Amino acid sequence: MEFDEHREAMVAQLLERGEVSGRVAEAFRLVPRHLFLPEFDPAAAYRDEPIVTKRDEEGRPISSSSQPAIMGIMLDQLDVRPGARVLEIGAGTGYNAALLAHLTGPEGHVVSVDIDADVVAAARRHLDDAGYPEVVVAHADGAAGFPEAAPYDRVIATVGVWDLSPAWLAQLAPGGRLVVPLDLRGVQVSVAMEYADDHWSSRSVEPCGFMRMRGPSAGPEVMLMLDGEADLVLTLPEPREVGDVLAMLDGPAAEVAADVPPLPRLSLMGGGIGLWLAMHEPRWCALTGRLGWAPVTTQGYGMTVGLVGPDGLAVLAAGTELLARGYGPGGAALAAELAAHVQAWDAAGRPEACDLRIDAYPGPAPDGVAVITKRHTRLVLSYD
Ligand SMILES: C[S@@+](CC[C@H](N)C(=O)[O-])C[C@H]1O[C@@H](n2cnc3c(N)ncnc32)[C@H](O)[C@@H]1O
Repeated sequence: MEFDEHREAMVAQLLERGEVSGRVAEAFRLVPRHLFLPEFDPAAAYRDEPIVTKRDEEGRPISSSSQPAIMGIMLDQLDVRPGARVLEIGAGTGYNAALLAHLTGPEGHVVSVDIDADVVAAARRHLDDAGYPEVVVAHADGAAGFPEAAPYDRVIATVGVWDLSPAWLAQLAPGGRLVVPLDLRGVQVSVAMEYADDHWSSRSVEPCGFMRMRGPSAGPEVMLMLDGEADLVLTLPEPREVGDVLAMLDGPAAEVAADVPPLPRLSLMGGGIGLWLAMHEPRWCALTGRLGWAPVTTQGYGMTVGLVGPDGLAVLAAGTELLARGYGPGGAALAAELAAHVQAWDAAGRPEACDLRIDAYPGPAPDGVAVITKRHTRLVLSYD
């Protein structure tokens, strides 16, 4: 009973912030998240936060129950109808599969796959304990889909994907929809896509941040652990030469005012300036960790974006106004370039992730504002 109240409070918060529709809110109301997180304090399960459930040998998170808000946003993007057949890639705790089971109803069918056998076994137990024996959980690399139960009306990945797998298209029924956290040169967006003629077209794009897919289909993104104690991680879209960033950060900084009116928090994260830099700058990077001065901080944990090269780093910093802060011999010049990018983004009307249009072509593609070539597809990006 006690947890029902916690759950109601979480659902009320999601509704109040406009993050979920009534149908998806009802699913959150009916599925007890704490039964999918038996090793955690049940009250923690009803905070709108991700909960890491498994880490690799280096301590990096490799499985979790995602943040309810982004789960709700993605379930609405997926637009699940009663009776639908749904494939989920990334079973994790099994919680999202249970939410999907509510959305598809008794006539529907939900299959969820995970690359780790122990994760699959735990998800199976949680789903049985919570009363969802009909949800199928299988041990498989989601890049191959799950042909045994195809075709699907909806395919959703709850793990960051680098490319659109040909298997997902092959296993989707005509008129089907795919929702995936897609990598755009190191920035992730949750994109709902449908396929017509010769390509996928986005129907909606939302900012998000998921752990990345593992296995043969993993992307080339690089996450350099600079300092374990400070959790300082430098993320690059692909391997390339950077200098000794930790030593640069210990040295003096050159500051350049970004010279733009104040920015809302979201604009500073992946969806706004980060995405702009990823689309326009080969030298772009993200820096996360215990950075009190970062423009976006949560409980002492900060995130910033900028440019990095062999002899310098420039990142955005919060002060009385937004600053570009340069480190290393080339830092001052990079800081000036970073400030110019922020001004160009501001002059372009401050586009966000939701303003982005993504077309993904398995074959030849036309030109666009930015074209990103992946293994199986070419992504053509433009702002609406
Ligand atoms: C954020 S968790 C998913 C959360 C889950 N939907 C839930 O409700 O708890 C991401 C999951 O993706 C899985 N994963 C990573 N790479 C994968 C792959 N190639 N195929 C299938 N699952 C994968 C991880 O093992 C992890 O459990």
